[in-house]
Amino acid sequence: MSAPLHIIDLIRKKRDGGSLDPREIAFLAAGAADGSIPPEQLSAWLMAAFLRGLTLDETRALTLAMRDSGEKFSPARLGKVAVDKHSTGGVGDKTSFLVAPIAAACGLVVPMISGRALGHTGGTLDKLEAIPGYRTALSLAEFETVLANCGASIVSQTPSLVPADRALYALRDRTGTVESPGLICASILSKKLAAGLDALVLDVKTGSGAFLRDRKDAEYLAALMVATAEAAGTRTVALLTDMSQPLGRCAGNWIELVEAVELLRGDRHPESEDLRELSLILAGWMIHLGGQAATPEMGYAHAEASLADGLGLRVFYSMVEAQGGDVSAFDDPVKFHKPGATKVLDAWQSGFVSEMDTTALGWAVQRLGAGREKAGEPVDPHAGIEFHARRGAHVEKGQPLATLYATSAVLLAEPVALLKEAIHFSETPPQPVQLISRIFTRESAEAHLNGQER
Ligand code: URA
Repeated sequence: MSAPLHIIDLIRKKRDGGSLDPREIAFLAAGAADGSIPPEQLSAWLMAAFLRGLTLDETRALTLAMRDSGEKFSPARLGKVAVDKHSTGGVGDKTSFLVAPIAAACGLVVPMISGRALGHTGGTLDKLEAIPGYRTALSLAEFETVLANCGASIVSQTPSLVPADRALYALRDRTGTVESPGLICASILSKKLAAGLDALVLDVKTGSGAFLRDRKDAEYLAALMVATAEAAGTRTVALLTDMSQPLGRCAGNWIELVEAVELLRGDRHPESEDLRELSLILAGWMIHLGGQAATPEMGYAHAEASLADGLGLRVFYSMVEAQGGDVSAFDDPVKFHKPGATKVLDAWQSGFVSEMDTTALGWAVQRLGAGREKAGEPVDPHAGIEFHARRGAHVEKGQPLATLYATSAVLLAEPVALLKEAIHFSETPPQPVQLISRIFTRESAEAHLNGQER
């Protein structure tokens, strides 16, 4: 019989730089899920893990133990290959609203369990709830019904799905232990793997608006997640993508949905081209990994066809209606958009838009009312920012740079000040930044980690 485990021993072991074995990690995850380990001891262990780092084996064991800490979803009965995409936060990132219906339109099933606004980044669920009536909290049985009928469903985590992450994430948020590659990997993948996915596409952000701004950290996280998910039996790739400016032209809740629906309708807008391109590339990989295209490029072509023939839009509308949402709000999106206050910010000098502190822009969006100060607070569906110039554009002094939508006029001053600090101009055009700078598959992820274990 194996010796009993004690949480104090696991805290001391990690604090002193040791590695926990899978049995010890499973004890920790079970104790987080059922509440038998008190928060102060979980927090102490989290800080030790944050400071000392987790080995690849520990990360893998923690991911699996958290995945197995509660109920799981099995898409097997749906009779289709299950794929998903995860973006590691960002400003204006609404790719989920495009890739989920596009992949479903191409014959796959997309069981997407999403999150709320976190720090300076927006939340997929908060955005969807801007649609009147849309329900994000479905039971697993309802989730399965929507998936069977529409092919895609975007919902919130249920109380019984990955309870270990629910407990650990809330503590990490309050103890300064979020930005740890091992803990991020286990948190994200435990939820994705609990959804029973066959394939997963990870969109890991780099640049001024990313959680891990340092490129090397982002590369390590991307490789770590690919190797961990592959070891758990899910075909996975990670794309390192640019977050040195907001993605697309809108950042907020309702206005982001409108931008996504415009693209699903086949409309084009110069300031939305990066969003369209990234969404088609991500969807192309989903379609390829899901076995519906021989290459990601052929997947891209299928994805583009589903915009042209309107099938992606039809899937999106059918998912919204199946989850109680009223799609007529999209008939006249401008009429439906009712911000409490609006301000057009003009360029305060002429020049090329050279640099954007995208984290600061994200905070500006949240403080207009699109995000919350405390967990559980309501968000304003109408708050947000529409950007009229992107990095590299030449503007004249006095030309509109952005339109800010706030809950009330008193909320405008701080975001305006943040924008003035965050946006920089130059006399010559800035160096262009690649939308996708690196792709990790299983082989390249393992090779990367072999040289870099921390
Ligand atoms: N999203 C998650 O779900 N977990 C993390 O740790 C970071 C982002």
